[in-house]
Amino acid sequence: MIKAFPGKPELTDSEVEEALVRATEQVRRNLPKFTYVSQNHSSVNGFYPPCDNNQWTCGFWPGEIWLSYEYTGDDIFRYAALIQVESFLHRIENHIEVDHHDMGFLYSPSCVAAYKLTGSEKGKKAAILAADQLITRFQPKGEFLQAWGKLGAKENYRYIIDCLLNVPLLHWASEVTGDEKYRDIALRHTATCLKYSIRPDNSTYHTFFMNPETGAPDHGATCQGYRDDSAWARGQAWGVYGMALSYRYNRNPAYLDAFRRVTEFYLSRLPEDLVPYWDLTFMSGEEEPRDSSSASIVACGLLEMAKYVEPQEAETYRTLARQMLKSLADCYSVKDPKTSNGLVLHGTYSKKSPYNTCTPEGVDECVSWGDYFYMEALTRLHKDWDLYW
Ligand code: GLY
Repeated sequence: MIKAFPGKPELTDSEVEEALVRATEQVRRNLPKFTYVSQNHSSVNGFYPPCDNNQWTCGFWPGEIWLSYEYTGDDIFRYAALIQVESFLHRIENHIEVDHHDMGFLYSPSCVAAYKLTGSEKGKKAAILAADQLITRFQPKGEFLQAWGKLGAKENYRYIIDCLLNVPLLHWASEVTGDEKYRDIALRHTATCLKYSIRPDNSTYHTFFMNPETGAPDHGATCQGYRDDSAWARGQAWGVYGMALSYRYNRNPAYLDAFRRVTEFYLSRLPEDLVPYWDLTFMSGEEEPRDSSSASIVACGLLEMAKYVEPQEAETYRTLARQMLKSLADCYSVKDPKTSNGLVLHGTYSKKSPYNTCTPEGVDECVSWGDYFYMEALTRLHKDWDLYW
């Protein structure tokens, strides 16, 4: 039974409009600075610096521009987003920082969006090349898309739960090319993730190692979470949205069941304002930062799954999403552009703990995917949105 939060306020339709106006105006203000460059993965003291198009996160800024275009219909956004598409085509054609699995995060909100919204042939070409690059990382021994590092190396023979958001690019590639090879790999990777990433208590492992000789499951471990046996908030959030997207592309009841289970665990670990701490181990107190981006990602997952379930369950999901977004819009979104050039404060990219292996970056800052998924969730409440994923 999914937990409910009776009495918590929900974002109303007029508040959705207000939040979208505020967000698109901030994107408009940022256009001159980020027309021919990308936005860094996270802000520094509230302000995103520019960067080259070489990070895994560079697709989110063009995604925000496309969402702004959808909301306003203003051609300035279309023009700016198509300049970003040129950069993404250049990146994949020249193989710039693409030896990892994040092709969906990069190419769905930038280039698939461009193709869907404008018929851009460059967007389509770039996104298909990205799908081709992604499938080179499929490991038949263990049946998974290897996340990072040298292909086949024992110390890198693992996938991560985040990849559930890269896999939709493969479903899209099969749809547009008619070639089933992408979908086949998508389904095989998702089946592996379903088998090993969810623990018996419905929390999730961030990363999971397989045995390179036999393909057998080896062990779960964290990278960005607090400890190997804790649940990194964003990993759980990728699980929620990832399972909803998996179900969108393939109505396997196991995906729906997994969606319900990972969502239930996530909800059981939320603090009073429904925005999680960076790891779900923490539930109260001031000393640990939040990860506001997880709340937006989960809201998107809930709104996606609401399309496929019975009306009562769908209503529960929509209510939860509106409650989370109310909290984000009222208490986390940027109101004064003089204080930040981002959209949503209090995200956490990578926080170092005594037990994890990550490089500390973007702690208690705006994070580019947090801004993007906040806008996506608002757009989903505003209209019947045709996904970029
Ligand atoms: N996919 C990496 C992250 O969520 O930080």
